[in-house]
Amino acid sequence: MRLDVVTIFPEYLEPLNVSLVGKARARGQLDVHVHDLRDWTYDRHNTVDDTPYGGGPGMVMKTDPWGEALDAALADGYESGARGPVLVVPTPSGRPFTQELAVELSERPWLIFTPARYEGIDRRVIDEYATRMPVYEVSIGDYVLAGGEAAVLVVTEAVARLLPGVLGNAESHRDDSFAPGEMANLLEGPVYTKPPQWRGRGIPEVLLSGHHGKIARWRRDEAFRRTARNRPDLIERCEASAFDKKDREILSILGWKPTADGRFWRRPQAVEE
Ligand code: ADE
Repeated sequence: MRLDVVTIFPEYLEPLNVSLVGKARARGQLDVHVHDLRDWTYDRHNTVDDTPYGGGPGMVMKTDPWGEALDAALADGYESGARGPVLVVPTPSGRPFTQELAVELSERPWLIFTPARYEGIDRRVIDEYATRMPVYEVSIGDYVLAGGEAAVLVVTEAVARLLPGVLGNAESHRDDSFAPGEMANLLEGPVYTKPPQWRGRGIPEVLLSGHHGKIARWRRDEAFRRTARNRPDLIERCEASAFDKKDREILSILGWKPTADGRFWRRPQAVEE
């Protein structure tokens, strides 16, 4: 997969040299190109922003540096054989970045990120490239960052770990919170490793039992507990048919009841464990 990032803070992307993403790069699984937007400015101050039309606070990033930078990144990518680019525009006004979107992006061969500072990029830039390639405007959460670079790191890490061969164990993301499949919409429960005793704290007996069925059930029950406490919306969103008899039992213990339409479960009142 090829990644291009155009930014006024190339050094902000240094973490892409570290850990999982760094190793994927070293192995040639990720081909990362970070570009300094100011390389496409020609005035003494390397200006990339200007005042907004219509007035208002803050500054807007100018069309020309972005247009030239993106054309150059595209030309370079095509020249080296990359195909099928998509533009990923981090913005608090974008669609929520989810595991599902991470999977979708991980299936694309070439992602071009345009992290903005200030009040964002002149809209014509996004509209222009939307005529040439799919554009994903994505938000990593309901808060406003000072710029999109941290969002690029978040999206890149979520996408890179899904690429074939990047995680050591292909099954590692099967049980991820938010992974598609049986555990869909449940958060992962707690995990333990050696030593078996630490500061007077043991580990749940069942994990030592060697009984795979019981362990799987315990993990699912714990996932329900954690999801009910931290993300009740995920349980409310589930269809009742997604739950087996044991699931219904644990949900009932946690204070959840099926609704009249039989489709969704609702928590009648907050339950403390
Ligand atoms: N830029 C500023 N805030 C952001 C957010 N929440 N998500 C993505 N990009 C952003």
